Amino acid sequence: MTPTPSRNSSPTAIKSHIDKPVVLVGLMGVGKSTIGRRLANRLGLPFVDSDDEIEAAAGMKVGELFENYGEDYFRDGERRVIARLIDGSHKIIATGGGAFVNPETRALILKEATAVWLDADIDVLAERVSRRDTRPLVRDSDPKTVLTELAEKRNRYYSQAPIHVHSGEGAHEETVDRILEALAK
Ligand code: S3P
Repeated sequence: MTPTPSRNSSPTAIKSHIDKPVVLVGLMGVGKSTIGRRLANRLGLPFVDSDDEIEAAAGMKVGELFENYGEDYFRDGERRVIARLIDGSHKIIATGGGAFVNPETRALILKEATAVWLDADIDVLAERVSRRDTRPLVRDSDPKTVLTELAEKRNRYYSQAPIHVHSGEGAHEETVDRILEALAK
């Protein structure tokens, strides 16, 4: 049963005390974009996705950027795009799974935004990323193996986010509720 939100944790009350952008971090497939968009709708804030912004700036898909110019080039663009998106205005930003690993980007997000680590079981992530072939890091490999390795490398960084929310197999709106509760605290 979904608890009735108290007045203090209503989206309007939460929005009024959000004083920084909210940045979703975590592994690919966890639903940063889907949940970020819904969170933004609930709060009446703009939503941006850093991968979409990189694609718009480059005029190329993420997969093509990796293929044509390599991962380092993509990471450099990712760092610059996220620095541009964190401009002090209130919004919800979904980042690509590797963004928070970059020390400069991580420091910027931790200082100028509220980071939310979205997390899910590897089996759930593997199933979700297998549905699409747009992610270069898992395109030619077993998604579960890659995601397990990435979790081992990256969880130490994601865990620096002040908010940690599990995104299970349940409805996305339940995850949004949990983020709203955490933001209200
Ligand atoms: C990546 C995650 C992707 C995208 C790129 C690299 C990563 O974003 O930025 O394929 O390094 O984990 P999503 O997390 O939105 O899938």
